[in-house]
Amino acid sequence: MVTLIDSPTSAAVQPRLTVQTADIAANTTAIRCLDWDRDRFDIEFELHHGTTYNSFLIQGEKTALIDTSHRKFESVYLQELQDLIDLKSLDYLIVNHTEPDHSGLIPELLDLAPQVTVVGSKVAIQFLEKLVHRPFESQIVKSGHSLDLGQGHELQFISAPNLHWPDTILTYDAGTQVLYTCDVFGMHYCDDSLLDETPERLEPDFQYYYNCLMGPNARSVLMALKRIAPLQFDLVATGHGPLLQHHISHWIGQYDTWSQNQVKAQTFVALFYLDGYGVSDRLVRAIADGISKTGVAIELVDLSVADTHEVRTLAQCAAGLVLGMPPQSSTSTTLDPLLGTILAAVHPKQVIGLFETGGGQDEPIYPLRNRFQELGLLEAFEPILLKTEPTAATDQLCREAGTDLGQFLTQSQSPPADTALDPELNQAIGRLSTGLYILTAQKGDVRSAMLASWVIQGSFEPLGIVIAVAKDRAIESLLHPGDTFVLNVLEEDNYQSLMRHFLLRFPPGADRFAEVNTYPAQNGSPILLETLAYLECEVTSRLDGNDHWLVYSTVQTGRVAKLNALTATHHRKLGNHY
Ligand code: FEO
Repeated sequence: MVTLIDSPTSAAVQPRLTVQTADIAANTTAIRCLDWDRDRFDIEFELHHGTTYNSFLIQGEKTALIDTSHRKFESVYLQELQDLIDLKSLDYLIVNHTEPDHSGLIPELLDLAPQVTVVGSKVAIQFLEKLVHRPFESQIVKSGHSLDLGQGHELQFISAPNLHWPDTILTYDAGTQVLYTCDVFGMHYCDDSLLDETPERLEPDFQYYYNCLMGPNARSVLMALKRIAPLQFDLVATGHGPLLQHHISHWIGQYDTWSQNQVKAQTFVALFYLDGYGVSDRLVRAIADGISKTGVAIELVDLSVADTHEVRTLAQCAAGLVLGMPPQSSTSTTLDPLLGTILAAVHPKQVIGLFETGGGQDEPIYPLRNRFQELGLLEAFEPILLKTEPTAATDQLCREAGTDLGQFLTQSQSPPADTALDPELNQAIGRLSTGLYILTAQKGDVRSAMLASWVIQGSFEPLGIVIAVAKDRAIESLLHPGDTFVLNVLEEDNYQSLMRHFLLRFPPGADRFAEVNTYPAQNGSPILLETLAYLECEVTSRLDGNDHWLVYSTVQTGRVAKLNALTATHHRKLGNHY
């Protein structure tokens, strides 16, 4: 039986943060921290339904807490915990994963329960040693290890590196048949429902979460699925969103299908990096995001925990490689042998992209670049050297570099477009004509633009337009719900110069507006001076159109510069080109 207790936090401090506790199995309590309004996660992970941070308490003869919560829940979470147990009697803290949304309250917990033994993977314990800056009892576990809490609660541990960080383990209570998975099988979805009664409501967020967190390491997902396959479990106690009970085989089947599809993809890029949880991690994920836009699969490999066989296999099989060099002071005995493995495994048909963080006086990236060039690899983008803290502009540069690399691969491997479509159909669909526009968008320091022709009015009330944006366009990342932009309408007989400019291929991070006359719209995006009209818009929703996003946006304001002039139109001959 499930019992729920909702406890609002102080509205003055953190509105819309609540805590729900529920008995989920024998001697087992879920403490779910509901973060209703969180709208971002990591660099680019937009949330539509908030999120939750789920923690679990098992009270056998020994007691164990599985994961903690986000720091923003400090007072209310710790109070709930103390209402459930005298923290001086807590024996174990199981850390499935150390990202701060789950480990944020470990320092405070160790203040209140200094006797506790922290249980986690080797990587997790190493990370926590840096996080808490004090000695604590610890126990390193991996697949095959177990911990008996008594009263039938025997915890078994399953290594699941790269889901979503290299530190991840899963914890299985054989007594209650509950599998505790932290990020794995989670979703960023916040409501009062404890369980997954309505899968159709949850599916989009479940898939989006998989795509953002798990898809980049599909091979690791499949390995973890293999490890849990022999286990009998009735409940999957996830770290985010509802717990999974009613449709477990569906959710696991989806992970299997999506991961198989990722792995089967003929083309993938291996992204090798090394620096724990710092800047390299951020840059490599932005590059991976850019590659993913092109439909090319990615495999992220943290060299600090990867084994030689995995590195060699991925370096041999990948169509492209990205390699991030850490600061000089971080290069260590860990990296040198693995670099040698990569250099020995690569072959001339591959493409390569390099980046370096930390800078310093030396530039170790250039000798490495020479080695790859001598080995016949083709460079997809100029090496990225980051000597300062990364900014949103750095993220954009990395995303665009990743997209360049992905396009390099897709364009060299695609069949000629003209053979892909029945010629008559191709000509018929080519008779669809449209206007010509420049879409401009600015968000913080990042701004971008593209020539758009697939634009139509989509609604009267509210005034809305629909724009089809290819998924591999750089500007796509500035067109999520809530983002704003300007649609500049090109004028008949006076559009060639602007069109030619915005058709140019810009290198990653380049300013598209250099040498173009602009002024800022009310929403901050650039208005082009030499256009017929403009509309200021806000993105409302995006429909997945396979190779394009169909971006529906409402129009806030607009102006026409020349009342009697006409819009430039775009007539095509074939439907498989713009
Ligand atoms: Fe929910 Fe990767 O932390």
